[in-house]
Amino acid sequence: MQEKSEGFMLIESIVSQIRRITNFVPKIGVVLGSGLGSFSEEIRVIGKIPYSKLKNFPVSTVSGHNGQFIFGYVNKIPVVLMDGRVHYYEGYNMFDVVLPDRIMAMLGAGVVILTNAAGGIEKTFYPGLIMSISDHISTFVPSPLLGPNIEEIGARFPDMSHVYNKDLRMVIYNTAQQLRIPLREGVYLQTTGPQYETPAEIKMFDAMGADAVGMSTAVEAIALNHMGVRVCGLSLITNMAAGLSKGSLSHEEVKKTADEAGENFKKLLLNVIININELLKQEEASLKNKDAVIAAEQKKKEAINNIGFEEFDIIEIK
Ligand code: HPA
Repeated sequence: MQEKSEGFMLIESIVSQIRRITNFVPKIGVVLGSGLGSFSEEIRVIGKIPYSKLKNFPVSTVSGHNGQFIFGYVNKIPVVLMDGRVHYYEGYNMFDVVLPDRIMAMLGAGVVILTNAAGGIEKTFYPGLIMSISDHISTFVPSPLLGPNIEEIGARFPDMSHVYNKDLRMVIYNTAQQLRIPLREGVYLQTTGPQYETPAEIKMFDAMGADAVGMSTAVEAIALNHMGVRVCGLSLITNMAAGLSKGSLSHEEVKKTADEAGENFKKLLLNVIININELLKQEEASLKNKDAVIAAEQKKKEAINNIGFEEFDIIEIK
């Protein structure tokens, strides 16, 4: 038998640490960006695992940014939330940056909803608007797939033609319409940060077809797509990008807008989770999307079989 890759063994070791605490199998994973920190109040939380409790897990060095996985239910839908992400600008390598996303997938999440705060490049965008990500430009950041390929989870040269799943995007669009929440689709461009862009850079990004700019999401979408996880993304436009409005950019402004617009964002996200679950149920029932369903089931089985953990009752960690 071929030896396991180093990357996979690390992923496995973290999953088995989590499996020693809980056998919770999430159906949907959610990465919480700025403005959504309090989203866990909307769900029935059954347990939390701080990243710092997991050996070999990257822990954010920025104070007040300590992340955790939150496990719980939206109605009866098992979800895992990534409350706090690891950013490349903090000095981690890309393997560490996408590790929490990969862990959510390994725990069983076949769908992941990525959220973030972003600067608006498209002229008709405005602070407070929510953008559903239709595609991304990751050319300005290193790939999370550099180095030996982790054969156990995905292909060496994965296709990126449809990173943001069409069916999930349709659910997002319809949900926003139902709730009468303004929503636009657009292309997200990732920079390394931590500095905001210059007006000249924004002009260039605009010419390249970017509608919004941020420092996190594209690499996570790549890593998840590599694993065959279905991905969608929601950007909260917290400010117009550099040079597009008077004044200068500040993290305070970004946080303030994120907090103000957070209610709509949370409401949309909650209903998107519910409606995505309806889609998954329909797919399961009709087996219309047979390949995706089988792949998701297979992933779940592998996630469980590969780890070799014993069954545990769900522990109320809270
Ligand atoms: N640029 C990059 N990242 C951001 C911005 C921005 O203008 N706003 C929020 N995150």
